Amino acid sequence: MSVAAVRPFFRTTIGKKYLMGFTGLVWAGFVLSHMAGNLLILVGADAYNKYGHAIVTSGILIPAEIVLVLSFMTHVTLAILLTLENRKARGSRYAVSARGEKAASLASRTMAVQGSLILVFVILHISTFKYGTYYEVVVDGVRMRDLHRLVLEVFQQPGYVAWYAVCLILLGFHLSHGVGSVLQSFGWKNDHYAPWIRRISLVYGLVVAAGFLSQPLYAFFMAG
Ligand code: HEM
Repeated sequence: MSVAAVRPFFRTTIGKKYLMGFTGLVWAGFVLSHMAGNLLILVGADAYNKYGHAIVTSGILIPAEIVLVLSFMTHVTLAILLTLENRKARGSRYAVSARGEKAASLASRTMAVQGSLILVFVILHISTFKYGTYYEVVVDGVRMRDLHRLVLEVFQQPGYVAWYAVCLILLGFHLSHGVGSVLQSFGWKNDHYAPWIRRISLVYGLVVAAGFLSQPLYAFFMAG
């Protein structure tokens, strides 16, 4: 199928929702693996640094960064377009969603605000860690970046821990709602699957938020 053939589909609201959902899932997958890999901080400095070094030297970083940046830009652009479309349509065709799911509708109404804060978080986060102080360490005879030292140093500061706690809880909400609505956009939210989709998205959001949160909390209270 050519690009020209699928273009009209992505101009429709449902097409935009699909693409937004898909690019969100790319990030959801990245965030889960980033969180899981980072849990190595609980194992020790060498394990954490060796993991970081393996990723940097594996050759996967540049392609992964390209996919992540493209996905992020697509996701944010479509989020803005869909919010504007939604605003225009509100009051005419689409009223508030039925069924009175208050929590879900609060989450969905604040998705744009959550997303904007997450964008700020990601930019600051990359500048703190990726472009932060470059300490070095030698592990098993290999010279590598001492990210463990940087992470512990950053999370000795209560302000950073508090900022991360707020953003990670928000991220948990955003991901949980996002994963749920992606599966809904893909048409899987029928009576049979709906309770499972709710459970999976809730557990997913909780696991990501709690897994990430454990790292600043560990660094602040247990290490250093
Ligand atoms: C406690 C929570 C987190 C910790 C301790 C952490 C730690 C780190 C560290 C140490 C790096 C630098 C890796 C390197 O340069 O080799 C990094 C990069 C990055 N992190 Fe996190 N992270 C956390 C949460 C998050 C979250 C919630 C997101 C996204 C929503 C995120 C997205 C990224 C991205 C996009 C990069 C840059 C990847 C690259 O291009 O190398 N991180 N993180």
